[in-house]
Amino acid sequence: MSATVVPIKDEWKANALLSQDTYREWYERSVSDPDGFWGEHGRRIDWIRPFQRVKNTSFAPGAVSIRWFEDGTLNVSANCIDRHLAERGDQVAILWEGDDPKDSRAITYRELHGEVCRMANVLKARGVKRGDRVTLYMPMIPEAAYAMLACARIGAIHSVVFGGFSPDALAGRLEGASSSVLVTADEGYRGGRTVPLKANVDRAVEIAARAGHGVETVLVVRRSGGAVGFQEGRDIWWHEAREGASPECEPEEMGAEDPLFILYTSGSTGKPKGVLHSSGGYLVYASMTHQYVFGYRPGDIYWCTADVGWVTGHSYIVYGPLANGATTLMFEGVPNYPDQSRFWQVIDKHKVNIFYTAPTAIRALMGAGDEPVKATSRKSLRVLASVGEPINPEAWNWYYKVVGEERCPVMDTWWQTETGGILITPLPGATDLKPGSATLPFFGVKPQIVDNEGRVLDGAVDGNLCIVDSWPGQMRTVYGDHERFEQTYFSTYENKYFTGDGARRDEDGYYWITGRVDDVINVSGHRMGTAEVESSLVAHEKVSEAAVVGYPHDIKGQGIYCYVTLMEGVEPTDELRKALVAHVRQDIGAIASPDKIQFAPGLPKTRSGKIMRRILRKIAEDDFAALGDTSTLADPGVVDDLVDNRQNKR
Ligand code: PRX
Repeated sequence: MSATVVPIKDEWKANALLSQDTYREWYERSVSDPDGFWGEHGRRIDWIRPFQRVKNTSFAPGAVSIRWFEDGTLNVSANCIDRHLAERGDQVAILWEGDDPKDSRAITYRELHGEVCRMANVLKARGVKRGDRVTLYMPMIPEAAYAMLACARIGAIHSVVFGGFSPDALAGRLEGASSSVLVTADEGYRGGRTVPLKANVDRAVEIAARAGHGVETVLVVRRSGGAVGFQEGRDIWWHEAREGASPECEPEEMGAEDPLFILYTSGSTGKPKGVLHSSGGYLVYASMTHQYVFGYRPGDIYWCTADVGWVTGHSYIVYGPLANGATTLMFEGVPNYPDQSRFWQVIDKHKVNIFYTAPTAIRALMGAGDEPVKATSRKSLRVLASVGEPINPEAWNWYYKVVGEERCPVMDTWWQTETGGILITPLPGATDLKPGSATLPFFGVKPQIVDNEGRVLDGAVDGNLCIVDSWPGQMRTVYGDHERFEQTYFSTYENKYFTGDGARRDEDGYYWITGRVDDVINVSGHRMGTAEVESSLVAHEKVSEAAVVGYPHDIKGQGIYCYVTLMEGVEPTDELRKALVAHVRQDIGAIASPDKIQFAPGLPKTRSGKIMRRILRKIAEDDFAALGDTSTLADPGVVDDLVDNRQNKR
């Protein structure tokens, strides 16, 4: 099968940081001589004590260890702020666009320095020191970046929890990181509505307290000015504490391998894992990918639409762009508020050159037609990019043709929370594009495709995607559980990092990510473990058993499909369906809302009691012809019931 190719255009070459040949040369060197390559590029950031040792990594069974630049010392916040002051202190660092189009703010590097130092001093005054975990539960306001950088400045480890998570989920993450300090806001704004962040925090702190975990400090940023609870002694207002805080704070000298942040993410089993990233390698990788993948040049206005609650916000709103001295746009709102033109209006308003968003947003906006796009100019755009899930060729083409008017190359960037930065991607002006393909590996990345038995597949093949050597941005461990780290990522295939994704490699060596091959689903680019939704459902008193799978969804990419077996004697009603949806939302957050609930008198199980998800997936996809052999099931009749039930529902 030969796919469409969009060859590099001459004007892209003219703007490119690297040519196609240079990409190839650099790539060859990066994988044949990683010490030499990264030894050079590791110097792109400022070190307090320069590193001597570059790479010290092992994927060996029982001895997985990842260390980069390990004898170097640095401070990440000084790299993102202080080192730019002499040359671009008055340049805008954070360009903030509010939910309301009338609201925007520009924060220069000099101002950023003052704010971050003040916040660092406020945290210090509350006893926060190096190595302590600080939890952030923030809306998309500049103070979220201040708080991250303030932690980095004093050597504290931040753990950002997405503002859409429930109090229960927040409590679990506070406990998981044994974090006794929280930074939040009174309320957030999104799409004209408020999000009750402080009220959620109050409940989370209570839930954590019942589990024996105390929170001592809650630093509250005033965003909406709405009435919120306030507990003297524990809660402090940022705007008040800021007044008395010094705008100078010496950055701590940190080791390259000292942790920078924890970010919880869903896996195929158990509770979300605390993915731990460290300082030196992460920053080198985030800044280098930010520069080359987006073809970033000084003076560009760069906009990534992610939320800082996800890794994309960490690496490509905050750390990568700021380490490069860029102007990074931070957007509080949503793509369709006040209307379907909002993204494009913001691009025109701030003359955005580089735009990075998610396929789910592209598909939703594509559904609104071309008019809202065509009502705007978008002439400032030079590079478009996408992340979070496979982008289908239709959405890619719409993005390329309608949004970019065929002037801007589209970078489909594949990566994960665990990888810290982009691993497979085109580079502008250096890679011929194929709609739907993330194309080729970034420097230092060695992908491999293996079959289910771990046999390495060469040439044009389809299989499981592994990475066979370390890159500087790789996660170092699961916070507090190194064994789980090894087990999750290095035990499926020996000596390889297993991504959990399936991929096809074509005859040109291009990679096409086909989606997760484990029990993780990707809903609007947000990762969700089916096990998490199941355990929430079975916690409901009327539910005896639940199995959750993903199914294709036009806008979200995947939707959440739940098979639920009720307790003996409970009536399956629409009301109960609604109650279960509300229950999961309350338990985990709106992003985990089930899209469909099918009541199932029984679930297909093997004789040893394992639920056959493959069959459930096929039923959810209406692909009844592909159910395969069901004769080995403990009770094959269950499948017929499920199929009948599903067909009758339509
Ligand atoms: O399945 C892949 C999908 O998102 C997963 C990682 O999710 P998360 O850790 O939340 O990070 C998202 C942002 C980096 C991957 O395992 N994914 C991400 N980007 C792409 C993608 N799938 C296909 N193409 C992509 N460009």
